[in-house]
Amino acid sequence: MSTVTTIEALRDTLKPWRKAGNSVAFVPTMGNLHDGHLQLVEKAKECADKVVVSLFVNPTQFGVGEDFDHYPRTESEDAKKLDAIGTDLLFLPSVSEIYPINHRTSISVSGLSDLHCGKTRVGHFDGVATIVCKLFNIVQPDLAFFGEKDFQQLTLIRALVRDLNIPVEIRGIETVREDDGLAMSSRNGYLSADERLAAPALYRSLCQARDRILAGEQNYPALEKRAMLSLREAGLQPEYFSVCRQSSLMPASTNDMELVILAAARLGKTRLIDNVYFSKT
Ligand code: PAJ
Repeated sequence: MSTVTTIEALRDTLKPWRKAGNSVAFVPTMGNLHDGHLQLVEKAKECADKVVVSLFVNPTQFGVGEDFDHYPRTESEDAKKLDAIGTDLLFLPSVSEIYPINHRTSISVSGLSDLHCGKTRVGHFDGVATIVCKLFNIVQPDLAFFGEKDFQQLTLIRALVRDLNIPVEIRGIETVREDDGLAMSSRNGYLSADERLAAPALYRSLCQARDRILAGEQNYPALEKRAMLSLREAGLQPEYFSVCRQSSLMPASTNDMELVILAAARLGKTRLIDNVYFSKT
């Protein structure tokens, strides 16, 4: 695996690959890699000749008082894991390489960036849209892989690519979970032993709500309220629990068939998100 830190070196590496007719798949990450991230890389390898992974803790998607300074940075372990599974190129830029002085442009995907996680993490999705758009322009991949765990992020990136006519195919990859159902996340490392035991309640409550809807429950607001209550009883502080239309992430009506339930909860100083999506047909 080659590792590059500058945009110029990245482009110099990619040029001969493209000339030789290789397809390029891209997996953007913020590092501290777990099996969820590695699954994206494995899928990328199956679908393209060359796989590029970026590792960049993007400051613009962290709000004031969030965990940018403490976000786990494990670059050398990450590089070893990526090398072991056959990644071709690791892009490891500095903040100044990506955001030179006088960087002014920001992208906002209106109608999506201020819902759900965007309500409490103001500006977060503008930071995500901007960095992902920049990375697409830097790498110019044929395909890019994102996790369904971050369902709102994936929906926003699909909208970004469509609206700005970016020539890349977006693939969503199923959430990788621990044995007890907890979605893998770099932030799970913040959980204390007791919090780690309580954490699977989030996924359990999502599955219960899905099963009730599939059994005929039509009163979504009541279902959401009950789920919020059961999360509090399990020791979590839920931020939102919303039954949504999959296409728009707006509140679902009983006529909607393609649904996703999105939820976020705090557990001590850790913020967990998860979702389940399903069809009523
Ligand atoms: P990060 O949290 O490092 O996640 C990188 C990618 O891994 C994202 O597409 C995310 O959805 C996916 N992922 C995380 N946990 C997963 C799991 N348990 N199963 C499957 N996929 C999982 O998401 C970001 O970084 C950033 O916002 C980024 C897109 C890189 C922009 O900075």
